[in-house]
Amino acid sequence: MHLPSIRREKYLLRPWDAADAMSLASHANNPRISVNLRDGFPYPYTLKDARQWLKMISENKSDMILAIEVEGEAAGGIGLHGMKDVYRYNAELGYWLAEKFWGRGIISDAVGVLVNYAFTHTRWLRIYASIYEHNVPSMRVLEKNGFIREAIHRKAVMKQGKLLDEHLFSLLRENWAALRDQMTDNNPHVDT
Ligand SMILES: CC(C)(COP(=O)(O)OP(=O)(O)OC[C@H]1O[C@@H](n2cnc3c(N)ncnc32)[C@H](O)[C@@H]1OP(=O)(O)O)[C@@H](O)C(=O)NCCC(=O)NCCS
Repeated sequence: MHLPSIRREKYLLRPWDAADAMSLASHANNPRISVNLRDGFPYPYTLKDARQWLKMISENKSDMILAIEVEGEAAGGIGLHGMKDVYRYNAELGYWLAEKFWGRGIISDAVGVLVNYAFTHTRWLRIYASIYEHNVPSMRVLEKNGFIREAIHRKAVMKQGKLLDEHLFSLLRENWAALRDQMTDNNPHVDT
């Protein structure tokens, strides 16, 4: 899968590089981030974890996994994971950002940019995201980008010893085109 580089005013979306390991480990090592993600995103998050993950994604051909570079640092990640079999027109969206950059609108913008790119350049027809019940900022990010809360999976998640509801948000390509035309500033500058 082609991985684009997309420059925006506050950040750059680009492929990850092995040289990002130090930056990744330092920004990802935060319990306020890992609590909202799958257990595969550990806390503590060590340099070894970062190197292993970067090696794994360098071999990944089916997903669109990008670094979010802010002020010259690889300070977060955003990705679309392609599903298989009868779900092959679906991709699961995930993202995180270094805490020091929260609240600047970066992820809200990055979700819109990546969705726009994916619906324009891939076969995916449906993009969805699973949010744990306490993660209101992430729900807000998705709602601002036109995602619909289509289900609540009750007590579906066991995270750090607690059973949590999972809120499932989705956006269909057929709805995206109309939404995009209503939204302003949605023409990303695609570098490559
Ligand atoms: C969730 C996360 C990605 C948001 O990134 P961000 O760049 O700070 O998000 P933005 O600034 O684009 O937008 C956040 C929105 O949530 C709102 N928000 C923040 N805290 C909130 C709260 N406690 N209640 C309600 N809304 C809240 C903000 O006001 C903003 O909405 P607005 O633009 O309408 O004001 C970031 O906090 C993060 O990395 N969290 C940990 C990992 C994570 O949760 N990943 C997603 C897993 S599904």
